[in-house]
Amino acid sequence: TYVVTENCIACKYTDCVDVCPVDCFYEGENMLVIHPEECIDCGVCEPECPADAIRPDTDAEAGSWVEFNRRYAEIWPVIIEAREPPANADSMDGEADKLKTHFS
Ligand code: SF4
Ligand code: F3S
Repeated sequence: TYVVTENCIACKYTDCVDVCPVDCFYEGENMLVIHPEECIDCGVCEPECPADAIRPDTDAEAGSWVEFNRRYAEIWPVIIEAREPPANADSMDGEADKLKTHFS
């Protein structure tokens, strides 16, 4: 499976949603996650993310995000259409420690 990682937070471009063939993205207030049981591992979302926030769960950078995606995919609603990103998305791209400061 693939996972959404920290740099999605407060960027939330949602380009990933438009390309996923199985609609397995779930939406929180300021980021998305991937449902690990629904993702078919096709990989098409990874290069589409402008914030480079998507990784295979086997990637070293996936780390604790594997459990994070699993946990919130069970709680958040599915998102099946892309939305306008936050107005300041571009300036948030690459910010450090977004989980601590911008996740809600
Ligand atoms: Fe969807 Fe494929 Fe990305 Fe999994 S890897 S979330 S199935 S686009
Ligand atoms: Fe997040 Fe990238 Fe999708 S910023 S919403 S994982 S396109």
